[in-house]
Amino acid sequence: MKANTIIRFEYVTQKYDDDPAVLDEVSFEIERGKFYTLLGPSGCGKTTILRLIAGFIEPTKGNIYMNEKKINKVPANQRQVNTVFQDYALFPHLNVYENVAFGLRIKKLKQAVIDKKVKDALRFVNLSGYENREIREMSGGQRQRVAIARAIVNEPEIILLDEPLSALDLKLRTEMQYELRELQQRLGITFVFVTHDQEEALAMSDEIFVINKGKIQQSGTPTDIYDEPINRFVADFIGESNIIPGTMIKDFLVEFNGKQFECVDQGFNNNEPVEIVIRPEDLEITEPEKGNLRVRVDSQLFRGVHYEICCYDEEGHEWLVHSTRKANVGDQIGLYFDPEAIHVMRFGETEEEYDKRLESYSEDHYAK
Ligand SMILES: Nc1ncnc2c1ncn2[C@@H]1O[C@H](COP(=O)(O)OP(=O)(O)O)[C@@H](O)[C@H]1O
Ligand SMILES: [Mg+2]
Repeated sequence: MKANTIIRFEYVTQKYDDDPAVLDEVSFEIERGKFYTLLGPSGCGKTTILRLIAGFIEPTKGNIYMNEKKINKVPANQRQVNTVFQDYALFPHLNVYENVAFGLRIKKLKQAVIDKKVKDALRFVNLSGYENREIREMSGGQRQRVAIARAIVNEPEIILLDEPLSALDLKLRTEMQYELRELQQRLGITFVFVTHDQEEALAMSDEIFVINKGKIQQSGTPTDIYDEPINRFVADFIGESNIIPGTMIKDFLVEFNGKQFECVDQGFNNNEPVEIVIRPEDLEITEPEKGNLRVRVDSQLFRGVHYEICCYDEEGHEWLVHSTRKANVGDQIGLYFDPEAIHVMRFGETEEEYDKRLESYSEDHYAK
């Protein structure tokens, strides 16, 4: 366990009724003061994880710890956790001040104390002077900030945010991404943020948990996950990828497109079928005879910073290339890539399985 762990899930399984498990033996740790993102497609179990942390539901199996105390049965109102919901769940009949003060009034704090806390919280989210505004007179971004002020006014240890930016238009969403990230750093409170948008996750997080079908596929920093996707799901979900079938001949040597290439991967069986990922920006356009592969340019789009070029090799596989150089549709070109640009993945492997495999692999090697 890490020294700073604030929340720990230990083989948590969640079932609703008799349906298959929504979360399947999920284990993870959340460290104090960091920005975490749960990223995955709709229905993968993100909101369920937040509800378990908040205490709205109890796990079917497994344990949840907060500051190393088991909290499976601790009710929501006794946890130092506040949630910002997708629709903000503000009270339309109350003004900004009373929305933020709501929880403090329930706690029956003195008016002078409430006043100070509400003013401080509103100042934190840049809404000083808006105390008497009606909620319906506030823009989407301002409502978002009221919802956050209402969460931070309780001085929780953790703030949970369930897709809070998804209702905003693109420009405002980008602004709020900066704002939320900056706010989290100023407050130093642990944020657990939910999104299905990979760019949002990459931009905002210290750590990302990529989730699919009730399992954490991979966890790590944005660069870890982008550079070293663990399986096809992650490679496909995060950024754009070329995913090609291949064979791991032996350590550091992989075969695809009928050719063998040096790579930096190890720990597979010899001649094991694998999947290869090469990111579009790791492919360099060369003369046809100078590349590792020969392809024909099928189409291209200008994307502002780069060209997105779609090519086909002789076997009919599609190759996506991001290049600042323009290509010509119909041309034969070469594609060059470094050994480091090749990522080899075992079919459908999750992070847990990967860690076990590498562990037993290095034990085997050590024993020899
Ligand atoms: N109260 C519930 N009763 C039955 N099934 C539910 C309930 N809440 C969620 N589910 C199911 O659990 C799965 C995961 O839901 P959820 O955690 O909300 O996913 P996400 O937030 O990632 O979209 C979905 O298949 C959903 O239909
Ligand atoms: Mg959800």
